[in-house]
Amino acid sequence: MSEEQVRLWKELMRSGRPPSEHCGDFGLVNTKEMFEKASKGKYAIPAYNFYNLEQLRGIVRGCVETDSPAILQILRRYLDDRNLTPLIFMVKGVVKSTSGKGRNLPLALNLDHGNNLEICKKCVDTGFSSVMIDGSALPYHENVELTKSVVEYAHERGVSVEGELGGIAGMEERATPEHMFTKPKEVESFIKETGVDSLAISIGTVHGPFKSKIENRPVQLRFDILDEVRDRVGEFPLVLHGASNVPPEYVEIVNQYGGRIGGAIGVGDDQLQTAVRKGIRKANFDTDIKLIFTATARERFAQHPNEFDPKSYLDIAEARLIEYVKDRNRILSAAGKGSL
Ligand code: 13P
Ligand code: ZN
Repeated sequence: MSEEQVRLWKELMRSGRPPSEHCGDFGLVNTKEMFEKASKGKYAIPAYNFYNLEQLRGIVRGCVETDSPAILQILRRYLDDRNLTPLIFMVKGVVKSTSGKGRNLPLALNLDHGNNLEICKKCVDTGFSSVMIDGSALPYHENVELTKSVVEYAHERGVSVEGELGGIAGMEERATPEHMFTKPKEVESFIKETGVDSLAISIGTVHGPFKSKIENRPVQLRFDILDEVRDRVGEFPLVLHGASNVPPEYVEIVNQYGGRIGGAIGVGDDQLQTAVRKGIRKANFDTDIKLIFTATARERFAQHPNEFDPKSYLDIAEARLIEYVKDRNRILSAAGKGSL
């Protein structure tokens, strides 16, 4: 980036709020200050994926109740011309109703796993306060070029950018075992060359409910890689994708009521907390939220076969999600950190 771009970016970021006319009074912040505070306080910002109102509201309510900052995320493959604008207005409504209660929680809206410049631009222009560009399946230099182009566009508009180095299986179609783990020696130059605000690294997590290659064996993260990355980049915000816990009680409900996800296993709390202690500043949860809603739907309709109103399970799932979010916020030590 040129010096002028860096100066402009710093100025915009200091304000915390993206200046895009679409999100003037949006109530969202970019991730700049959030990460600064998390780095100082040595905790991680929880990032939750959602797709419907009950999931979004459950996440935000869990964060209000624990006074936690959070990053709200939408997966790129859920965004198309049909639903981008409605989703944005839904977020706007929920975030606004939060600050209406006298709360002003730091909440960011992030595009999760954006894979091209166009979708990132669209999200920036529509009111996202953060975008992830995932060029991890590309050769290093192509990843740098793609990420840099997103950074240039987003930073000029006060929106922060997450990049990725190393593949996290289960989402990036071309991730293969050979190039899955992040190479620590690439991290420093990638951050410098692209200007990203945070970086997802691959230290042994995978997306989805099957995180261990060997059934029932707990997930062991590669803390040696995290340590080496940290030695090279210090307190730069590092992101852990695939951080879901895959709670056994919800796996059991799914299986009890007709599902077949035997062998599902997630990241244990001890592993997650060690990762935070060693420098992870953002952890992503998507699978757990899906599991809570699917388990509740299966259970509700199996137990009440005459029931046909989705609201009957959605209300229960939302209440369960609130408890789950409160628990994750505490595990990441983000609870009580709700003021910028
Ligand atoms: P999980 O599948 O572990 O929830 O991972 C979520 C994620 O990384 C979203 O980008
Ligand atoms: Zn991910």
